[in-house]
Amino acid sequence: MKGIILAGGNGTRLQPLTFAGSKQLAPVYDKPMIYYPLSVLMLAGVRDILIVTRPNDLPAFQTLLSDGRQLGLNIDYATQDEPRGIADAFLVGADHIRGEQCALILGDNLFHGANLPTLLRRSALKMGGCVLFGQEVADPERYGVAEIDPRGELVSIEEKPRHPRSNLAIPGIYFFDAQVSDIARDLEPSARGELEITDVLRVYLKMGTAELVWLGRGVTWLDTGTHESLLEAGAFVRDTQRRQGIRLGCIEEIAMHMGYIEPDDCRALGAGMGNSPYGEYVMERARLCSAGVLPPLPSEGL
Ligand code: TTP
Repeated sequence: MKGIILAGGNGTRLQPLTFAGSKQLAPVYDKPMIYYPLSVLMLAGVRDILIVTRPNDLPAFQTLLSDGRQLGLNIDYATQDEPRGIADAFLVGADHIRGEQCALILGDNLFHGANLPTLLRRSALKMGGCVLFGQEVADPERYGVAEIDPRGELVSIEEKPRHPRSNLAIPGIYFFDAQVSDIARDLEPSARGELEITDVLRVYLKMGTAELVWLGRGVTWLDTGTHESLLEAGAFVRDTQRRQGIRLGCIEEIAMHMGYIEPDDCRALGAGMGNSPYGEYVMERARLCSAGVLPPLPSEGL
């Protein structure tokens, strides 16, 4: 399965932060925002990843992640000169995903939960046409919202409804079969001038091949699109890390645990940042892994 991280957009709600730099490179406590969605794809077993950015931001992403080889990944890049909508990812990324299933994750969405990798893998493996996820939220009118019938089956999808039919918001991670670029090619821009992901999901819903999976209470989902939510996400990461003594979204550690790189490789990556607490943590995790103290994660890919 191929992966796409959508890391373009103008980030207008975060201006002036986003005038000169990408939102998805802004710090969420101790690491760039994109580490979090990248972690999710890695934990789902997706290793061949396209990052879509604004043209001016591309060099910074390349400096940060290069071709991904240091993490046992293959990372490619594509640019989106205008924010034409989330579904534009399937046109910009058409060559990358050609003929294969793909996972799309938004570069400003942060997920945390022990059962998330298993849930993602299971959902992807039994996918018919597409998989979308649902998470109960207090303010569904800010999101795409799923309407379900009494049996929990998906009935309709609405984008930012004024009167939501449920409190089940659709977070920014989805799985699609190989048809998705063809479906996106037939879309018309919405009233706000964007190719809408909800329109893609509706096509699958009409075909009877869209499956809704509840994320449940064990998964935390945060988005970081406003100054408040960015600060809240940073505080969540800091508090969780401080309490548990582990780091969230640590791509070097995840690469080692997934078996994408060896503990020695992980230690070297940490040593390259050895002056920072983050680098020290990466080296310590490599040491624990070599000593057989850390439980291995499943490494079979999607
Ligand atoms: P949005 O939050 O819808 O848009 P934005 O990030 O540009 O922010 P704002 O609303 O403040 O202007 O985007 C969600 C994610 O998808 C975010 O990671 C940016 C990305 N995105 C693109 O990469 N290209 C696009 O055309 C759009 C619409 C979004």
